[in-house]
Amino acid sequence: MFWLSLILLISVILCDNSVDQKYRINCQPGRDKDPDKCKNQGCIFDTSSNTVSPPCYFPAKTGYIALNLSSNKSATDKQITLQKDPKSVKNPFGNDFSQLNFTWSELGSAAYIKITPIGQDRYRPPVPLADSTPITSTEKLTVISSQDGIWSFNVIRNSTGAKIWDTSIGGLLFADQYIQISTAVPTDRVYGFGENIHPTLKHDFSQFRTYAMFARDQAPDSVNPLINNVGKNLYGVHNFYIGFEADGKSHGVFFFNSNAQEVTVGGSAITYRSIGGQIEIFFFPGPSPEEVVKQYQQLIGTPVLPPYWALGFQLCRYGYSGIKEIRDVVDRMRAAGIPQDVQFSDIDYLNEYEDFSYNRKGFADLPNFAKELHNNYSMHLTLIFDPAIEVDYDPMTRAINSDAKFIEWPRADLVPTENRYPLINNTLIMLGKVWPKRNVAFPDFLDSEGKTNNWWINEFTLFRKQVEFDGAWIDMNEPSNFGTKLRNSTPTLAKDDDDDAPDLECPKSGNDSHWDLPPYETQAAFFYGNDAHLEGKTLCMIGKWGRNKYYLYDSKSLYGWSESVATHQAVRNATGKRGIAISRSTFPSSGRYAGHWLGDNKAQWEDLRSSVIGAQEFNIFGIPYVGSDICGFGQNTTEELCLRWQQMGAFHSFSRNHNDKDLAPQDPAHWPTVAAAAKKANLFRYRHLPYLYSLHFKASLEGGTVVRPLFFEFPADNYVHQISYQFLWGPSMMIIPVLEANRTTVDGYLPPSTIWYSLFDSSYGQKAPNGNTTFPAPWNSLIPVFLRGVIGLNDGGNSQSIANGELYWDDGDSIPTDDLSKHNFHSFTFRFDGTSENSSLLITQTKTATNVTLPPLENIEIFGYSWTPDISSATINGNAINITALSTYNSTTQVLNITATGLINLNNGGPTWKLTILNKKPSQNGGINLSLGVLLLLTVLYNLF
Ligand SMILES: *[C@@H]1O[C@H](CO)[C@@H](O)[C@H](O)[C@H]1NC(C)=O
Ligand SMILES: *[C@@H]1O[C@H](CO)[C@@H](O)[C@H](O)[C@H]1NC(C)=O
Ligand SMILES: *[C@@H]1O[C@H](CO)[C@@H](O)[C@H](O)[C@H]1NC(C)=O
Ligand SMILES: *[C@@H]1O[C@H](CO)[C@@H](O)[C@H](O)[C@H]1NC(C)=O
Ligand SMILES: *[C@@H]1O[C@H](CO)[C@@H](O)[C@H](O)[C@H]1NC(C)=O
Repeated sequence: MFWLSLILLISVILCDNSVDQKYRINCQPGRDKDPDKCKNQGCIFDTSSNTVSPPCYFPAKTGYIALNLSSNKSATDKQITLQKDPKSVKNPFGNDFSQLNFTWSELGSAAYIKITPIGQDRYRPPVPLADSTPITSTEKLTVISSQDGIWSFNVIRNSTGAKIWDTSIGGLLFADQYIQISTAVPTDRVYGFGENIHPTLKHDFSQFRTYAMFARDQAPDSVNPLINNVGKNLYGVHNFYIGFEADGKSHGVFFFNSNAQEVTVGGSAITYRSIGGQIEIFFFPGPSPEEVVKQYQQLIGTPVLPPYWALGFQLCRYGYSGIKEIRDVVDRMRAAGIPQDVQFSDIDYLNEYEDFSYNRKGFADLPNFAKELHNNYSMHLTLIFDPAIEVDYDPMTRAINSDAKFIEWPRADLVPTENRYPLINNTLIMLGKVWPKRNVAFPDFLDSEGKTNNWWINEFTLFRKQVEFDGAWIDMNEPSNFGTKLRNSTPTLAKDDDDDAPDLECPKSGNDSHWDLPPYETQAAFFYGNDAHLEGKTLCMIGKWGRNKYYLYDSKSLYGWSESVATHQAVRNATGKRGIAISRSTFPSSGRYAGHWLGDNKAQWEDLRSSVIGAQEFNIFGIPYVGSDICGFGQNTTEELCLRWQQMGAFHSFSRNHNDKDLAPQDPAHWPTVAAAAKKANLFRYRHLPYLYSLHFKASLEGGTVVRPLFFEFPADNYVHQISYQFLWGPSMMIIPVLEANRTTVDGYLPPSTIWYSLFDSSYGQKAPNGNTTFPAPWNSLIPVFLRGVIGLNDGGNSQSIANGELYWDDGDSIPTDDLSKHNFHSFTFRFDGTSENSSLLITQTKTATNVTLPPLENIEIFGYSWTPDISSATINGNAINITALSTYNSTTQVLNITATGLINLNNGGPTWKLTILNKKPSQNGGINLSLGVLLLLTVLYNLF
């Protein structure tokens, strides 16, 4: 004790409490902005400084003291007991726990830390993590504690000593409903956090910007993504980022917490605030961004493998009058020759908006239409399903009879006394109001007995017997509820205009109100005005699920995740096929079960731009099957915007045009120009689907991304870190979309560390200029797309170029085994070697599927081919093959195109195939590095016309 107070004394006397602006932690992050209150809280109010850093900030050395540290300087102790310094500034939002337990452990090469009050059993999100499987990496992270006035820790990269995290800037607070931790970051190259609209892919640390995270039915606002430096919380929660160190190595940081939370990025620091749970953080060593994502996915699960058809183009709108209109649209698409594989229906098809029903007015023919899509066109049908179930019809009867559970009030005295629904009489079910006319209940997808999920699966299976849908689109699962209010006193049924469905009211006073009105409500409430609280647009935070185990206060951001788990299984059981679910609300590990669309955007150029960032971020979050509503959901689109969006959206994994009710049609066939552009873009996409599918397959198998930010592949290129609006498909295909009005060109950047070959229009196969270039981008052209070349080694004067690739192939639609490596699939590696003497393509089959026929490899394009090939010399495995009829070589463009019907049949003759062609004369430029771009094209016309 003497030792402790001595330290305190010294720190009080010697330390100046002011803090460098770049490390200031906001002491009034909420509605209050009051200097007197600030000082009364023990914080420092400084108006002299610029307006960027928070004016009211915590004094230096705010935090806890370690009681059992083995060395004050650097201790790798795995357990440390922390004591709140009674003289230190108090938590402004509750009483800090006096003692905390800090532990850290190695998770293979990764590091995991946990801070939780001693003697408390705190909530932990019930999302299964593979947190006992060691993470492998060539690098290693270590957590080192030290004490200098306060306890702090560093997360260190062993190989370089770089500090990935450094909490010595102070700010650790831990009360029941307010938790805060801050860290200095090594660079401002920080990417991630969601779901928010970020103005740029890389975070901007020149402002102190706060992003709220709490699942909410909230449409993105891409025009004003931040108001007063606060970015509002959208549908999902992803508290994960990739950060860079000064030397270009990258790491990942995952804050595992599902309470309402937020981060502030600014100065040289990140501050986390959460209003419940505990501090659990996983640190991934990378060192490359792709490795970071793989390591993260090793913990949260690799992404679901979509069926092949789900990579086709998809069309939807809200407000179809009926099947006739949908048939007309599908016919119009076919007449225009625009590839389409999936048709959607929004809630229009439902009977009175009740799940597992269809209306007999416009949609009486839905069952036949589904069959028609399958049988006549090999197309697929995806239908919308909302989680909320009206409490007075057959699915609800079956739920009650099978003991399925719904979100409930924790006590009977909270349940409104008047009940008009016999089925749920004398239950604790919390009634809400969504699209159906009467009240609804929200299925308990965390039901520990699994009865709710079984009932859900059964409902899908029963409905599938009526309508042969193939995919499920799950919306409104934040969960969204209409008209939720706070109530002052005893529970009553709030009457409103619609007498059929009273509104939900949550406790506004007394002890029960601390769920919806906690001391700090986070920007997820403040952002929406002074009367906004946590229950806004959703259920009461006092609601419970998981069979009465979890409060919504802690766990409501998991609702969409839990519905994805159930629906993923339901679609598979109902269809007997792989199927796909698309979820609006997501959480870490949602990608294992579902894809995501970026929500109710608008037909604005800003939304087109933000969707490019959104798709890259969701790849970082482990949900690569993602896309925006092409042409914009809300507001009437324009011909030009829709055309540009179709061109870009052809590079979304989930590529769907979707439109709001009462708006003019925007299917691409609506305008001849858009039809032509969409046809061109979709045909390019379809031609390269085996590549896109292989990228998804690899991500599902090993983890990783499909759409990739440029800094993933070129981390050492300083310029790419500021690029938000270009992206890659995997490692090799660069996409530069047009995202502004009135443009016939687009400015793009091609990293000079490699050679790029154009894949678009008249410059097809040509070397593209490196660095910043203005590319032609007229309406009737494909947007600029480039293939990354492979630079060969200078092989003692005999230049050699090598290109590698992989292909994954299966039946595209069967349910894979849980361990995807045991699934029935083919895989191949490709290696192209070129020298002045000859060129060869070596194909090696690395896994063979049974009863899955591969399409023939009939076309190989080689760019930058500076030798003169003797096409008549071609052999496969030493046997001559005649490819002369269709193959071409152009010595000006240096494009070699090897084409022959049935060129290589990958079903026979393996496990290796070697195609060799002799070159006629030695290269003119022998001894100089060459570069080749190699494109292998399988002949796969998947449901095209
Ligand atoms: C701290 O947490 C660790 C790991 O959960 C546990 O083993 C230890 O008993 C805890 N210590 C205290 C003082 O609660
Ligand atoms: C990493 O660094 C820590 C602290 O210096 C050290 O204790 C540990 O042994 C190192 N681990 C490896 C694998 O080098
Ligand atoms: C609910 O049950 C009570 C008796 O417990 C009964 O008086 C009431 O009529 C029932 N209400 C409905 C809507 O079935
Ligand atoms: C779903 O399918 C699995 C695998 O066939 C089966 O074991 C399970 O019983 C099915 N669940 C339901 C609710 O039908
Ligand atoms: C959109 O266009 C349609 C058809 O031209 C028109 O009826 C409607 O009023 C427009 N809606 C808006 C919001 O501009």
